[in-house]
Amino acid sequence: MIRDAKKKQGQSVQTMDKERQLAAIFCMNLNIVRYACPSEIYTHIDLNSGSGWNDEFDVPGSPIAFITVAESMLDKWQAYFFEWNPAAAAQLREAIGHHPRCQVIEADNAMFLEFARKRLKTRSIGSILCDPNGYLYRTRTNGKAPIGSGAPVAELVEFFKEYRRMDLIANINMRTYDLQKKAREKGVVGPDSYSGFYRLQEFLEVFSKRDGLITKGASNGHSTFVRIVLRNLPTDGYRKWGWYRWQSPEARRIFEYYDGDRKAAAKLQMSLL
Ligand SMILES: C[S@@+](CC[C@H](N)C(=O)[O-])C[C@H]1O[C@@H](n2cnc3c(N)ncnc32)[C@H](O)[C@@H]1O
Repeated sequence: MIRDAKKKQGQSVQTMDKERQLAAIFCMNLNIVRYACPSEIYTHIDLNSGSGWNDEFDVPGSPIAFITVAESMLDKWQAYFFEWNPAAAAQLREAIGHHPRCQVIEADNAMFLEFARKRLKTRSIGSILCDPNGYLYRTRTNGKAPIGSGAPVAELVEFFKEYRRMDLIANINMRTYDLQKKAREKGVVGPDSYSGFYRLQEFLEVFSKRDGLITKGASNGHSTFVRIVLRNLPTDGYRKWGWYRWQSPEARRIFEYYDGDRKAAAKLQMSLL
């Protein structure tokens, strides 16, 4: 049933890397719940679900990765999958089939805040996944009405103030970040052009989190993606799957690389060869 949902999405080998690292974080989160609070229901909300299958390399998409891990690890869980593209949402429904713990929501993911306030308790435990194709921001049209693709940053900021036990997991495009950062610095676009545009290093504060993990950039030959998980419960890294603690030397180098002086970093690297 899941395989029938295969459709071209233009992903690359980078996708395998992404799903592998996301699945490792799902495992880590579910393990914590399994041992620390087994009576609680784990809630997962995927804000950019896609069709459920990445055709090119025949790998499952993020919803299927989560369901596979959850079914093997927990009895009590529920998952909500936002996808606004009707064709992708239909394929996802087909990929999941009838599943009493899952719901596909064909809507703009900004709706998630209203949706969560109706269904979750502020003490609910779980995760929100953002996998927007671009950086962690929300598109706008020249400062007018939002087009609204990407991540609903303003709603996420509100959500994490209220829901302290929900983690933010994100796969974000650092090439997009670079382009937008340069456009803003050069004044090509106004400060309002990218709604909710924050540096990686600001994320803990912006999303009211105490700690996090981060991966090194993974390139698909065109764009480079960094993955993050932000939490209030500090955990170890998960190095064998490429996840480093927010305060680690590796993380510091990642922050410096994306926000620092690239020429100086390149010169330093050359001098070390
Ligand atoms: C990179 S793809 C997601 C891939 C998926 N997470 C996976 O691992 O296979 C991004 C998806 O987000 C959806 N999307 C973008 N903006 C959205 C929005 N505002 N609301 C709901 N879905 C959105 C797109 O239609 C697209 O399917």
